Amino acid sequence: MNPADTSDLWWRTAVFYCLDVETFQDSDGDGSGDFAGLARRMDDLAALGITCIWLMPFQPTPDLDDGYDITDFYGVASRLGDLGRVVETIRVAHDRGIRVVMDLVVNHTSDRHPWFIAARRSKNSRYRDYYVWRDHPPRKQQPTVFPGEEASTWELDERTGQYYLHSFYRHQPDLNLGNPEVRAEIARIIGFWLKLGIDGFRVDAVPFLITAPGSPNEKDPHAFLRELHRFVGRREGSAMLLGEVGLPHDQQLDYFGTAAPELDLQFDFVTAQSAFLCFARGEAEPLARALASRPEVDVSQGWAMFLRNHDELSLELLADDEKQEVFDAFAPEEDQRVYGRGIIRRLAPMLDGDPRRLRLAYSLLFSLPGAPTLFYGEEIGMGELDTSLRREAVRGPMQWDAGRNGGFSTAPASRLKRPVATGGYAPEHINVHDQSRDPDSLWTFISGLTSRYRSTPEIAWGRLSVLDAGDPRVLAHESATDEVAFLAVHNFSAEAVTVALPGWGAGRDVTVLLDSSSNTAPDAAAPDEEGRLRLDGYGFRWLKSVPPSSVPG
Ligand code: GLC
Repeated sequence: MNPADTSDLWWRTAVFYCLDVETFQDSDGDGSGDFAGLARRMDDLAALGITCIWLMPFQPTPDLDDGYDITDFYGVASRLGDLGRVVETIRVAHDRGIRVVMDLVVNHTSDRHPWFIAARRSKNSRYRDYYVWRDHPPRKQQPTVFPGEEASTWELDERTGQYYLHSFYRHQPDLNLGNPEVRAEIARIIGFWLKLGIDGFRVDAVPFLITAPGSPNEKDPHAFLRELHRFVGRREGSAMLLGEVGLPHDQQLDYFGTAAPELDLQFDFVTAQSAFLCFARGEAEPLARALASRPEVDVSQGWAMFLRNHDELSLELLADDEKQEVFDAFAPEEDQRVYGRGIIRRLAPMLDGDPRRLRLAYSLLFSLPGAPTLFYGEEIGMGELDTSLRREAVRGPMQWDAGRNGGFSTAPASRLKRPVATGGYAPEHINVHDQSRDPDSLWTFISGLTSRYRSTPEIAWGRLSVLDAGDPRVLAHESATDEVAFLAVHNFSAEAVTVALPGWGAGRDVTVLLDSSSNTAPDAAAPDEEGRLRLDGYGFRWLKSVPPSSVPG
């Protein structure tokens, strides 16, 4: 398919930006970020060049899992604003060509949701069957997602004497997808937000959502996702579903749908985890392996690429010894690790704030075929907070300037939900105001990446191949359409290397799109006659080749 024919499949070339309204910008000085604050910051996001905001949950919540425990799917937590502010914010984004997707957290509700309160009042409640109940916890249980914090995924409800399923915390009872009324509720929730202008959903915890044990849904768990996709398409043709499916590539194929479409996009967890193994080893093989295992998907479907997100950096898709290598390199302290599987740090401190390594990482992210996803604050290299905050250590207030509370809020620091970073990653050193005026900053580098990515649709649309660069330290990958070939070369090691890609671009017009060594003259950066390319330590280069121009001379 020609990139020009595909503009309605916008998600395949989106630049996603995940943020939590609560920690982004406070407009009224109460210490909490809010929608009015986000709307005011829209020009900053437009300047960065992102094309789609992903809003973390913003509905009413007791906030025991940072909002992933909802009590009203149609509401807005009052400290963040109200529906009017949400609609205004969406309009402000749309005016700047930015789409807005939101988390759809319907695997479970909060235990304080009126449905669950009614359900646990009596076995005869009309809401009882909205949840999954058993007289005894099954002998074979799914392992808990939060080992050390939860012992089981079944909790006894004293009053009615039955156990309910909670795949996550015990205060998050799983909804029963086998119940048609629950599915109808979910459709209404989706329909509601689409009407308010939302452009799609990041579907939370998809494998848990569709495979509630024992429910009638169990026989054909994917039927629900097919139904969901059809429903979204009927209500709003350009809306999309981006799924959180933390499984190996071959299993992700099922979630794109084999019989009919399910998710439009999925996060590529395998590639993200493999990238960290490459950073740890200074070698490219894990990524080459990960990319080779990516299944072919339909043209309307694709991958959302990321390095870090709002959760721990999970390493569960790596082998045990590989996981240990990444732990040793990037989470040497025990308190930087959680659940035996993940790291609760942001990227910049993991890479020792080294600008060469950070640029390598983000160049890689934007060069991999898919839709790159940034987690707020990555564009300036924010650090994590004290790891005693566990998963929330990476969810500190956005750092806008060097002023009070990093420009996030004028409230006294004691009123903020999470503290402002201190030390080397404090707002005095790391903030948007300074970096967006500095040609050598990470912010400027990343805004350059968004613009090059957006002007190079071949990255996402092309056929992917990993080329043999003849050096284990270097990943060379190509995305090619019939006309255009995009090549990215990344050196994961600290040493300078010369690689050879004989024949690449031969007889075609080659342009350098991006080059880590700004001192090299542009001509010297293209491959020489033998296809040799020199890269600095942690160096990278993006090249594009097109058929030779027909204009003579
Ligand atoms: C997803 C979210 C995570 C949350 C969990 C339960 O994995 O990313 O933050 O705790 O779902 O909703």
